Amino acid sequence: MTNALSIRGLTKRYDAKRGDRPWPLRRGGPVPDTGGFLAVQDFDLEIEDGSFFGLLGPNGAGKTTIISAVCNLIRVTSGEIDIFGAPHDTLDARRMVGLAEQDVNLDRFLDVEETLLYHGGYFGMKRPEARRRAAEMMDVFDLRAKAGVRAPKLSGGMRRRLLLARALMHEPRLVILDEPTAGVDFELRLELWRYIHRLHDEGTTILLTTHYLEEADELCEEIALIRDGRLIARDSADGLRTAYGAESLADAYVRAMGAAPASS
Ligand SMILES: Nc1ncnc2c1ncn2[C@@H]1O[C@H](COP(=O)(O)OP(=O)(O)O)[C@@H](O)[C@H]1O
Ligand SMILES: [Mg+2]
Repeated sequence: MTNALSIRGLTKRYDAKRGDRPWPLRRGGPVPDTGGFLAVQDFDLEIEDGSFFGLLGPNGAGKTTIISAVCNLIRVTSGEIDIFGAPHDTLDARRMVGLAEQDVNLDRFLDVEETLLYHGGYFGMKRPEARRRAAEMMDVFDLRAKAGVRAPKLSGGMRRRLLLARALMHEPRLVILDEPTAGVDFELRLELWRYIHRLHDEGTTILLTTHYLEEADELCEEIALIRDGRLIARDSADGLRTAYGAESLADAYVRAMGAAPASS
């Protein structure tokens, strides 16, 4: 079976001089080394179709960089990434991924419904289909009453829900959530986890980063620990606890991070 995500030998060196967004979407070879900051080094990861996968690591570990590379939002220095077998820099691959970015990047001039419709249009959905799906998303995420409200006038919780609704708009098979519950209150966190859980039950592959280790423990079938842009360990939560002789995932995490070689 084809994996949902396959990353082989991913290296990302941020170039201090050049802009990093490859607009317009382009295909092309690796970018040569020009110094700069090495954020991810020779990173491999395979994620099976249908799995719930957690990417854990401290701030600056390289999680967002990896996710941005997967979604072709930055140029990679070297390595290969496939999404359900399609090279990540193709439109086919991009259509199969839904991304909720760590930063809440909503267009301030669009209301809730427009946000969803524009996104649908961007992914080639026909207007009636986009309208149907937007209505469905507004119902699921309890945003119907806010359909005509622009992003700056939404509460923080509503923005987070809209971010998720937008990521799911085009019915992606792989959903990537970069710290979806960072800074949200307890109730909304539970609610978001319920949505994400349901999505997984429906067969969607989930790749998630979070700092809530208890939640990663409960939800993620597999976890990759990363630090300084390198993969340290990859296992189930139970496997990690056993490997590090720890009682909790938090203990295993602390030990794994402590045991890893310090960054140079
Ligand atoms: N655009 C950029 N230019 C230069 N360095 C960057 C850029 N984005 C991220 N970095 C650096 O790369 C490293 C990894 O960052 P990031 O992928 O955001 O980590 P995480 O998401 O795990 O917190 C950090 O040291 C960060 O400062
Ligand atoms: Mg990040």
